[in-house]
Amino acid sequence: MNYKLGLSVILLATGLSACDKHAGTSGESAAASGEAIKFVKTQDGSPLEIKHELFDTPAAKEFLATGKNPYIGKDNAIAEGKKIFQLYSCTQCHGPEAGGQVGPALTGPNYNYAKDATNKGMFETVWNGTNGGMGAKGKGLMDPSDPNNGISPDELLKVIAWIRSHGSLTGNEDAAS
Ligand code: HEC
Repeated sequence: MNYKLGLSVILLATGLSACDKHAGTSGESAAASGEAIKFVKTQDGSPLEIKHELFDTPAAKEFLATGKNPYIGKDNAIAEGKKIFQLYSCTQCHGPEAGGQVGPALTGPNYNYAKDATNKGMFETVWNGTNGGMGAKGKGLMDPSDPNNGISPDELLKVIAWIRSHGSLTGNEDAAS
């Protein structure tokens, strides 16, 4: 009882101070005050919980708050995304330029899962996998015993920026849907 009460007081206090500190600014503060998009699984549309502390860069925080990928069209991030795409073996199944191999082409504009036309949708598909042959890549999901084994939100946003640089969609057109 006491423990539970203590915990809720602490949570309340942290929540309030977070609002105080960041009131009035944009994307990052929205995330700090708890405003966040709701992720869903590509498999069945049910809620997908991703720990908010994994969104640990300004770009990842902005994505969590708005569903927009700030790395779209940014040359440095796109170059890093290409390396990360190789690092996590996406290349093996989707081809070196994401044009398709064992797995489908990722450049669009048409996708197996229509939601992958948005950056939020593609993020969910890669983070948690699909029913039709792709396993999850998100942190701790490639090897559940190791919470550091897997792609981070920031890395995945860079990979998506690289994928989008090959296609006609930015994925930010319809950000929060
Ligand atoms: C072991 C092979 C394999 C690896 C590795 C892999 N994928 Fe896939 N991926 C697939 C297959 C097969 C599908 C088709 C799944 C389906 O239709 O359900 C797929 C589907 C996808 C889709 C959905 C495409 C659509 O048309 O909707 C995206 C996006 C994607 N992969 C991105 C990635 C990224 C990014 C990585 C690296 C982090 C990756 N994949 C690694 C095999 C793989």
